[in-house]
Amino acid sequence: MRITQTTLQKMVENNEKFTVLTCYDAIFATMLENAGIDVLLVGDSLGNVLHGESTTLGVTLDNMIYHTRCVARGSSKAFIMADMPFGSYQVSPEQAFENASKILAAGAHMVKIEGGQIMADTIRFLTQRGIPVCAHIGLTPQSIHQLGGYKLQGDSEKSAKQLLDDAKILEKAGAGLLVMEVVPAKLAKKITHTLSIPTIGIGAGIHCSAQVLVLHDMLGLYPGKKPRFIKDFMASAKNIQEAVTNYVTAVKTGQFPSEEHEF
Ligand code: KIV
Repeated sequence: MRITQTTLQKMVENNEKFTVLTCYDAIFATMLENAGIDVLLVGDSLGNVLHGESTTLGVTLDNMIYHTRCVARGSSKAFIMADMPFGSYQVSPEQAFENASKILAAGAHMVKIEGGQIMADTIRFLTQRGIPVCAHIGLTPQSIHQLGGYKLQGDSEKSAKQLLDDAKILEKAGAGLLVMEVVPAKLAKKITHTLSIPTIGIGAGIHCSAQVLVLHDMLGLYPGKKPRFIKDFMASAKNIQEAVTNYVTAVKTGQFPSEEHEF
């Protein structure tokens, strides 16, 4: 049976963590869900890992539709979430609806959009019209030039309060899930305990309802210096299947992320 947003919500209510990995093609979709991954995220990180770009800004709507279709063809069990790329949703709620509907038509069950309370009207517009939305706060890679680099967010009292306020407003606007990227574990814990919707952490510590990593990163395919929050699950596995299964077990049993991966 297909995992739905309701399944994820129930898992969290039963204190069961769920697992997310990015996925960009059919063969990995089948493999990841057979290894126990609950959510496949067609991330715009494909701009980095597949296209070799240094940012996600060049990823197009057509790229996202194409990769979502590939993932959907290989998947029969997982919940499929897909990023809305930069420039495809920021202009207006109407623009977001027009583009999100194409991503859903390609096979996604939910779209993910980056940004804080400025995105509340758009989230309300989409969810009231049948498009489930995951919000994404903290380190939002599409704002990289504004953030001034890939660095910790919410590390001052003021910015932590801003993120907590954002999270509450986005939940109220209708977001069904919330990704928190590279924020202090203590703040992610507070946000997770404040919201009723599941939170998904990447570099956000152990207390989130779920964890996500970029597939290539957790398979050790990271060029250059590995950021603190990534664990290479391939290092101790004999094949990819085993690495993914070990990730699933580590997340579900609360062994990943450990202190060495958090801020
Ligand atoms: O695009 C992506 O891979 C993401 C995750 C890092 C959360 O948004």
